[in-house]
Amino acid sequence: PTALAGRHFLKELDFTEAEFRGLIELAAELKAAKRAGTETPYLRGRNIALIFEKTSTRTRCAFEVAAADQGAHTTYLDPIGSQIGHKESVRDTARVLGRMYDGIEYRGDSQVKVEELAAEAGVPVYNGLTDDWHPTQMLADVLTMTEHSAKPLTEVAFAYLGDARFNMGNSYLVTGALLGMDVRIVAPEQYWPDPAIVARARELAGRSGAAVTLTEDVTEGVRGADFVATDVWVSMGEPKEVWAERIKSLAPYAVTMDVLRATGNPDVKFLHCLPAFHDLGTKVGREIHETYGLTSLEVTDEVFESAHSIVFDEAENRLHTIKAVLVATLGRQS
Ligand code: CP
Ligand code: NVA
Repeated sequence: PTALAGRHFLKELDFTEAEFRGLIELAAELKAAKRAGTETPYLRGRNIALIFEKTSTRTRCAFEVAAADQGAHTTYLDPIGSQIGHKESVRDTARVLGRMYDGIEYRGDSQVKVEELAAEAGVPVYNGLTDDWHPTQMLADVLTMTEHSAKPLTEVAFAYLGDARFNMGNSYLVTGALLGMDVRIVAPEQYWPDPAIVARARELAGRSGAAVTLTEDVTEGVRGADFVATDVWVSMGEPKEVWAERIKSLAPYAVTMDVLRATGNPDVKFLHCLPAFHDLGTKVGREIHETYGLTSLEVTDEVFESAHSIVFDEAENRLHTIKAVLVATLGRQS
């Protein structure tokens, strides 16, 4: 058993810097082993339930492939196909699934629900995204930054632009602070993370030596950054009606080539957890294009398709990092 055996993975704040770094190191080892064809299956005979109350491509597939690579079995419960939430309480579902499964992934709106699931299930519970946090995404982003930077994380600067009062903004702020990074939140003040989260980040920064900056000024916010990140302006579960205001407030924070140039760093890299509105080729994208006349939202197609963009390395790393969480919490020597 590893140091994280039996632990939940609910939010970044539950982990020490050493534990978080340990998961990144394990992910890098598992990635190398998979590539070399020498992966050892540590999860043979394990069963993992995947509850998705919101849709997913990367997170679901990462859990399924990670489990399969490691010899475990998964059951996918889709947003309408189970009793959870409508016919049965989270508490009851947790107690049922805890009798059958060795681990449970949950994606939904409320952090309270995933915490409740963890409290009742008696087996490790993994947060696959809530409105508040996206912790498995952070493991992938940090692994990706490590791979694309010659410097140690404590010397790396990254700027997150856009809606920072939802899962991605919160998670970036706290993760950067935990790991001693130079983390900048660049957004209009009403889109900054909740003051309680900013306070926790400042506390962590006091211990780790991180620099925490919140600014409305794009030029100042991205200066010297090694990585520039963004996310969708309207998240899953938010009503259509918010688009107009979001576009108005966040348009100046779109990641364009000018923003990358403003870093002053010719090697700056671009991150996005995906899905991204860079070409508006999707159904929702076309509607937005027709209504607002825009050709892209949070990132231009030029940036997304440029050599700066490492978004598909980031997406692949969801697999290796989620595998690390499963192995660290459920693995056994086979
Ligand atoms: N980045 C991410 O969580 O993607 P999915 O919504 O496709 O899982
Ligand atoms: N903030 C986005 C992230 C998607 C991975 C959302 O919650 O929809």
